[in-house]
Amino acid sequence: MSNNKLTIIDRKGSSHELEWEPDQTLMEALRDNDLPVLASCGGTASCATCHVFLEKEVFETLNERSEDEFELLVDAEGYQECGSRLSCQLGFSEELNGVTVTLAPEE
Ligand code: FES
Repeated sequence: MSNNKLTIIDRKGSSHELEWEPDQTLMEALRDNDLPVLASCGGTASCATCHVFLEKEVFETLNERSEDEFELLVDAEGYQECGSRLSCQLGFSEELNGVTVTLAPEE
């Protein structure tokens, strides 16, 4: 499997190209590319500091959020019903190649 290429929009509105390797979650790809994602719980769906927004069309192709993920997100800054995900809960998939991911406001 080859790497995915993503466009990341940071909290200042600047865009960054990023390579996502197949053995990483999206959160790990963001963190390893020095994007400001705190990921303070280390990827266990309990902090919401890895919150990102996906485009609606992309969001709709993914599996539903787990109850834990959903409960954290609904209280998170800027929550979007059709867009918010915890990036630590997103595993690599080829469907997520070429997509744009926007970092949510800081908690
Ligand atoms: S890293 Fe904490 S919820 Fe994703």
